[in-house]
Amino acid sequence: MRRSLAPPSRWASLLVLVSAFCCLFLSTAAVKHENFKTCDQAGFCKRNRAYADAAGVSGWEAPFRIAAESLTWKDGLLQGTILKTINKNGETVRLPVTITFLQSGSARVTIDEERRQKGEIELRHNSIARKERYNEAESWTIVGGLDVSKTATESREATRSTVTYGSEGQFQAVITFAPFSVDFKRDGATQIKLNDRGLLNVEHWRPKIEKVEPEKKEGDEETPAPEVEAGEDESTWWDEPFGGQTDSKPKGPESVSLDITFPGYEHVYGIPEHAGPLSLKQTRGGDGNHNDPYRLYNADVFEYIMDSPMTLYGSIPFMQAHKKDSTVGVFWLNAAETWIDITKQKEAHNPLSLGIGSKTDTHTHWFSESGMIDVFVFLGPTPSDVTKAYGELTGYTQLPPEFSIAYHQCRWNYNSDEDVKDVDRKMSKHQIPYDVIWLDIEYTDDKQYFTWDPLTFPDPIGMLKQLDESDRKLVAIIDPHIKNKAGYPVVEELKQKNFGVNNKDGNLYEGWCWPGSSHWIDCFNPAAIKWWIGLFKYSAFKGTMANLFIWNDMNEPSVFNGPETTMPKDNLHHGNWEHRDLHNINGLTFHNATYQAMLEREKGVLRRPFVLTRSFYAGSQRVGAMWTGDNQASWDHLAAGFPMIINNGIAGYPFAGADVGGFFGNPEKDLLTRWYQAGAFYPFFRGHAHIDTRRREPYLVGDPYTGIITRALRLRYSLMPAWYTAFHEASVNGTPILRPHYFMYPGDEAGFAVDDQFFVGSTGLLAKPVVKEGADSVVIYIADEEQYYDYFDFKKYSGKGSQTISAPLEKIPLLMQGGHIIPRKDRPRRSSGLMKWDPYTLVVVLSKESTAQGEIYVDDGDSFDYEAGAYIKRAFDFKDGVLSSANLGTKGKMTDKYIKSMKAVGVERIIVVGAPKSWETKKTVKVGKGEAQLEFHAEEGNKAAWAVVKNPAINIAEDWKIEF
Ligand code: GLC
Repeated sequence: MRRSLAPPSRWASLLVLVSAFCCLFLSTAAVKHENFKTCDQAGFCKRNRAYADAAGVSGWEAPFRIAAESLTWKDGLLQGTILKTINKNGETVRLPVTITFLQSGSARVTIDEERRQKGEIELRHNSIARKERYNEAESWTIVGGLDVSKTATESREATRSTVTYGSEGQFQAVITFAPFSVDFKRDGATQIKLNDRGLLNVEHWRPKIEKVEPEKKEGDEETPAPEVEAGEDESTWWDEPFGGQTDSKPKGPESVSLDITFPGYEHVYGIPEHAGPLSLKQTRGGDGNHNDPYRLYNADVFEYIMDSPMTLYGSIPFMQAHKKDSTVGVFWLNAAETWIDITKQKEAHNPLSLGIGSKTDTHTHWFSESGMIDVFVFLGPTPSDVTKAYGELTGYTQLPPEFSIAYHQCRWNYNSDEDVKDVDRKMSKHQIPYDVIWLDIEYTDDKQYFTWDPLTFPDPIGMLKQLDESDRKLVAIIDPHIKNKAGYPVVEELKQKNFGVNNKDGNLYEGWCWPGSSHWIDCFNPAAIKWWIGLFKYSAFKGTMANLFIWNDMNEPSVFNGPETTMPKDNLHHGNWEHRDLHNINGLTFHNATYQAMLEREKGVLRRPFVLTRSFYAGSQRVGAMWTGDNQASWDHLAAGFPMIINNGIAGYPFAGADVGGFFGNPEKDLLTRWYQAGAFYPFFRGHAHIDTRRREPYLVGDPYTGIITRALRLRYSLMPAWYTAFHEASVNGTPILRPHYFMYPGDEAGFAVDDQFFVGSTGLLAKPVVKEGADSVVIYIADEEQYYDYFDFKKYSGKGSQTISAPLEKIPLLMQGGHIIPRKDRPRRSSGLMKWDPYTLVVVLSKESTAQGEIYVDDGDSFDYEAGAYIKRAFDFKDGVLSSANLGTKGKMTDKYIKSMKAVGVERIIVVGAPKSWETKKTVKVGKGEAQLEFHAEEGNKAAWAVVKNPAINIAEDWKIEF
């Protein structure tokens, strides 16, 4: 294990380093469960589950009601006070509530606590922490979509209020006053219920009453304890110990919780990051179910296990619920530790129906340790309506620099600048394309970020220049822990300017990470961000130039000697907010600061940053890519990657990938090969390995593996235009890049749980990479009656249902759905940058009706000029034997100049798959006024006929027509 409890003596420090070192070379089998809390060990989780159990008992009265007289309605906002009854005498606590109806059709319910809001509480242990419930999650997360509805109307009755909203008044919220609950309806039918089960809980502030033990005098008789009224179980309200450390909890119990029911919905997806199936499991025990709720508490979980609700590195508290032809969603905007229980209840309409027509309700129960209740409700009805509405609030994914969606070659570590140059040369020599080589922590001088080890990296600029010759890049790691070492200017400045996270007493927090004793930059502090930005200027971070990009790791933050490998919850951030309140946003703030820094590296030069993060939250999609952390070189980890990446995508963060080859351990050659074939379909495609593993650059694996891996890489490169188009689409409307079946076929129940195959963007490419050891075929599920073709040999597949595709090691199961036009670039190059001026190939995959459509998006892949119209967006259409290209772009200031610069980029080949037999005798096609050659290939067995148009002399940026 690479972390330990480190008392700050010299011997202890040495011990820590030695033990950390030893552990790097041990192959440990599994996650250290004892390092992470179960629900039972997290006070508020246990309390809220107990609350739920008590609420299930008959006679339960939910103690929260709206004071009807407090309610006001103005301009789309319903505001009032919820009263929580706290004892038998009817005493109440006041909780301000706001229900906002947004122009977009989304609704938002916010519940705060008046007394904390006003700061009228006392903190224990002389704490200087903020007294309010954390109310700044919004400022890190929400970037738009908050315009309030101008058309929503309210009608009031004695016991409830009804608000009608949505673009056509199709939505309704029925707010019942006592007990407080809200039903959200679409077209008259209830889709989402808040507090239907009465589990709403806001733990109000209360002082700690110290129980005085009566003094015992010698000789006293054993006196029976005085009888006390049975009350709440206080045992987890105050100071909470775990793993030898104690959380001082100066604000006492303050959790919030709410039940959210999706009536008639059997599937729920989202709330990444967990290793497990896309369709989330039930969490309150039972056959095949989890016993603990899904947990969201960003943590450095070492060697994580499969199929588990355990927390991982990032969290997005956004969930979609899906049933036949209807999708809805909720976003729980809270940055504290959060757990989500899921249970499903089957209801048979008719006992004689034997389950046919029975429906299932999904009950969810959300609880967070602190902060407010702030929940957004999306009523769909389609999956893309929900992802779009969510993205309007939290932002769509960054349109990344184009190189960053090509292949990345990483390991911990490339040992020297010579080593990097050598790998670079060898990749070229073996004609293996790659765009980026990475440097892990060992490139630094003694783990001091923004420096280079003078012995091993004496000439970083020379190294960067060599990479630049092939338009290749370097990514270097910069973590948030700053080595606590006298004379290191970065730490000296951090200390002097007070830019670090503080401990509970308000002094600079010190903990352990890779560099040993460290401090952590506090990116919640705007002044600290400003300072951080300065550190990346070429003049400050010496040895860097424009083709260097950044990797942010360990930003949960990972603290080796902290509770659950992270920071103590009573640490203090800018504004004296407790770490507990904002933990899950921490990674985002650091990632965001680095993104800002990359924007400002050079005055007057605005290029798209690429920053990879391990920790993330809702909104991280705006500033870069994520990966799934420290996986293992095993088949089950290979299989786990797709559901995780797909799930991340439907939660608005599609730029995701897993370490290809597996981080820990040495993959067998067939595993590595299959992993590259899978990785060629990860939106973020990077090979990475632990320092203790054997070198595994693709050219080292040997034949036939190197050849097969190279073909997988070339497939990715050839499809780059399609991938980039999919990224563009995600960046403007939030549509996932890997699209699961339910997303494409919301009415096809057989596909709702399918998570091991997916469509790539809107290309009609349906992939099911092999993730099972020894498998030489896969069974793929086809959801419609369209014609499908094998990508490589045009073998035909049709008919709704399961189909077997043969998949020996050299084969990736990949189908093309009829009706699509796929843009490619087929000339093999060393990097994607070198393909910039290459001509395109268009693959026209004919539908059963002999039609096809497609799109392409092109820009310089590097700057923000596309915002001023410097891009190409075309619609391709094949109908009645004519293929045409039409403009989809909107003209901007820079359009003409850009189009002119693309004059020389043409289409060199058009492949028509499923070509009609009548073309057999055709030798040419008409291209405008000229013509081009047509080559016809007749059907062979089950392989479709296809035809090729060679050199049609058309431009990618222009209108044209080809008549067949
Ligand atoms: C963490 C990262 C891993 C990296 C290592 C060293 O374990 O997850 O990718 O190689 O730290 O920086």
